[in-house]
Amino acid sequence: MRKIAVLTGGGDCPGLNAVIRAIVKSATGYGLEVLGILDGFRGAVEGDFMPLTLKDVSGILPRGGTILGTTNRDNPFAYETKVNGLTQMVDRSDDVIRNLKERGVDALLAIGGDGSLNIALKLANKGLSVIGIPKTIDNDLMATDQTFGFQTAVDTAQEALDRLHTTAESHHRVMVLEVMGRYAGWIALYAGVAGGADVILIPEIPYNINRVALCIQKRAKLGKKFSIIVVAEGAKPLGGEMVVERMVSGRFDPIKLGGIGAKLGNDLEEHYGLETRVTVLGHLQRGGSPNAYDRVLSTRYGVAAVDAALEEEFGIMVALRGRDIVRVPLQEAVDQIKYVPLNDPLLLAARTFGMEMGD
Ligand code: F6P
Repeated sequence: MRKIAVLTGGGDCPGLNAVIRAIVKSATGYGLEVLGILDGFRGAVEGDFMPLTLKDVSGILPRGGTILGTTNRDNPFAYETKVNGLTQMVDRSDDVIRNLKERGVDALLAIGGDGSLNIALKLANKGLSVIGIPKTIDNDLMATDQTFGFQTAVDTAQEALDRLHTTAESHHRVMVLEVMGRYAGWIALYAGVAGGADVILIPEIPYNINRVALCIQKRAKLGKKFSIIVVAEGAKPLGGEMVVERMVSGRFDPIKLGGIGAKLGNDLEEHYGLETRVTVLGHLQRGGSPNAYDRVLSTRYGVAAVDAALEEEFGIMVALRGRDIVRVPLQEAVDQIKYVPLNDPLLLAARTFGMEMGD
């Protein structure tokens, strides 16, 4: 083991730079060289690499984003390529393997969510020495208790809820906060509890709008003339569908969600006469400096990935289990989405102390 390469793929999140820093610092300590791959798998296909030294990672621990750039398009197994003047989707995975080989790379460390880790697994199945590192604010990766970036996103959503509370109270309004969470409602659940929301709507529990309105009306009868709702972008009404803003071609998951907050707000105003305002938190959840928890988790993941490379254990992902960082097969990581289970302890606690989940 002499040289490792690292890339960041998929949507960014707070803590990516902290992982890169940990990788470079521990690898350098072991006498390894590190190459950074620019813009995720695009750079791997195109051969866009840069050496990463201690100097490059100095001061990046608190910085949001990724110094390497990222993309959630560019899948090497279906890569937009001009063939005889026509754009076609071509399998360019051999180019990735060739580019790494030509530069003497012994192991690829792929930091990503389900899309990037699926690609990493396919490359591992072609014989590449790959190690995955779990990232996503959605926290929906199976096989790890937590992805880095999630806790910081929860902090951001909780702060937004605190701010919405004061203005909701002054104006006697209903405030809806739409947060990210495509298929799993972890951010909505944790931020909702931390921010004292009255209603939490998550993709795992289709909501009944009557129940939501009833909860708000009951509060009003008790003298609480405002209410706070947090809704995950992937939530849907009973018998209804997720609200899709548009389709984006070339992405691992082409669905761009957005609009459930507006739908909910309209329904509450039109059918129940409840004055409602809607805030979409969007990419504010993905930007900015990682909190202390995510800096620590990112650092541990980076160090653990280098350790795995030194021990030549490939086709795995580093994962958090309880307080330990362990190695799990990449396959296990991408097999299924980690939904909020209906018996999740926090979900049950939220119900017990009276939070409305819409069902
Ligand atoms: O997967 C993380 C995520 O933040 C989702 O919650 C969200 O739907 C998506 O990324 C948005 O991605 P984009 O950057 O393409 O808008």
